[in-house]
Amino acid sequence: MRQSCIIAIMLMPLWGITSCGKFEAKSVAGFSGPVQKIVLDNCASCHAGGNAEGGFGVVDKPSEMINGGYIIPGNAADSLIYKKISTTPPYGARMPFGGPYLKPSQLEDVSTWINSMGSFTVTIKGNNLTTDPSQPQKVAEGETLIIETTPIEGFTISETIGGTCATGSWNGNTYTTGKIVADCEVELSAFGTFTVTATGSNLTIAPAEAQSIASGATASLTVTAQGGYTLSKDVGGDCPTGSWSGSVYTTGSIVANCTVSFAVEGQVTVTATGSHATFTPSAPQTILKGNTQAYVVTAASGYTTSSTVGGTCPAGTWSGTTYTTGPINSTCTVTFSATTQNPCPTVNPAISFASDVLPVMNTAGCTGCHNPDENDKAYFSTTNGGAPDYASITAGTNKQYATFIVKTGDPLSSWLYTKTTTSKPSGDRMPMGGPYLSESDQSKICNWIYYGANNN
Ligand code: HEC
Ligand code: HEC
Repeated sequence: MRQSCIIAIMLMPLWGITSCGKFEAKSVAGFSGPVQKIVLDNCASCHAGGNAEGGFGVVDKPSEMINGGYIIPGNAADSLIYKKISTTPPYGARMPFGGPYLKPSQLEDVSTWINSMGSFTVTIKGNNLTTDPSQPQKVAEGETLIIETTPIEGFTISETIGGTCATGSWNGNTYTTGKIVADCEVELSAFGTFTVTATGSNLTIAPAEAQSIASGATASLTVTAQGGYTLSKDVGGDCPTGSWSGSVYTTGSIVANCTVSFAVEGQVTVTATGSHATFTPSAPQTILKGNTQAYVVTAASGYTTSSTVGGTCPAGTWSGTTYTTGPINSTCTVTFSATTQNPCPTVNPAISFASDVLPVMNTAGCTGCHNPDENDKAYFSTTNGGAPDYASITAGTNKQYATFIVKTGDPLSSWLYTKTTTSKPSGDRMPMGGPYLSESDQSKICNWIYYGANNN
């Protein structure tokens, strides 16, 4: 490739003869010789240090000129930098803008520099952190690459660098590679600390307390079955699976907070779930084979506990609110449920007439049409003449169609509710002409009636 060897020797005494041989095809004239002086003297005033005439402001940074597409390494003829200083710029003015222009020998120096330039691709890998840049970067030979890192929440940057690029240095969270002389990869990592909690009954675990483990490390636990029991080698919990060595269990590499649960032979686990029902104990229970497990079950407000129990455990018996499974011989589940007769869109026993129902009716303007004056037209009155009131609303049957305006405990027979829904019993949906009540406001009227239509 032309006289690139000679140029390399002249301009880059550091690389000398060996670099000439090593970088035969890509031998680089660096940026520290005559080219740097040409550029700084003739271009930097408009294209560096915060000045970016024509949108171009990195004439002092070869790697950024490459990544920005101003320089195509090894191809001066197609490099914008070179085209703009040549006698025939592709557009705009010849550079330096306004002249004096570069001498032919200087043009030759720049051309040679670009033609002999090597650029390498640096691939960036981040473990538990993000990097900027994150995409592979082209870096001019001998340059360094600056990488900003942001560790994920709770993680700390590791000073140790992986990959194949020359080692560089840290400044806070910013890493600067060593000089890039070949395609290479930088691997940056951050580490976190996680808690490993171990549980088990009829056995002792050492250490008994939760352990703090650096991400990627393992936790070791010594487990001893209590008298009469034999330790099971089956390990539960959500820590990565590990291995036993005698009575010492070592987890897999820890990457998150996790638990390990140990058991003695003959133990089974009972797990309960419930919908609209809560139960005690709520945590999975470890019991010995053949035993039963009792739960105290409470239905959610507005619901009644169903006596039918689902799941895979052997059927048991109820005694009041306590359910006791049959004898359990293998790990199983119990599922409690509760039912409601409440026909409202959502079940809510805690509705107040004064603070839930009245505001809905006031906002919807029911009184505007349902008052003593309009009574003939609207068939019932929500008021005695002022704001809606409890006595008027619950006064009983209507004048026209409805059997009940409010039938305590039975919202589906109560027109105060049904007339606000899409399944209105007759005539217009209320409020007449809309806008209609939201489902949640309909539900307030419905629940209020269902739970006693109280003056509360
Ligand atoms: C006195 C200020 C000035 C100097 C000195 C100068 N330029 Fe420019 N440069 C400009 C202006 C203004 C533009 C935009 C107009 C144009 O493209 O003609 C520009 C545009 C460019 C562009 C095109 C940028 C783009 O993205 O379109 C390149 C490349 C460039 N200059 C390179 C150089 C180089 C190399 C030198 C030194 C040899 C240099 N310039 C010296 C003012 C200057
Ligand atoms: C714009 C006037 C207007 C508004 C506002 C209005 N209504 Fe009515 N309402 C009527 C008219 C007129 C009728 C009789 C015709 C019909 O049933 O479609 C009626 C009928 C009713 C009936 C049936 C009475 C019966 O015995 O037939 C109920 C219940 C009712 N409205 C409840 C309400 C509620 C609750 C609101 C507020 C959320 C409301 N209305 C808002 C005009 C209105």
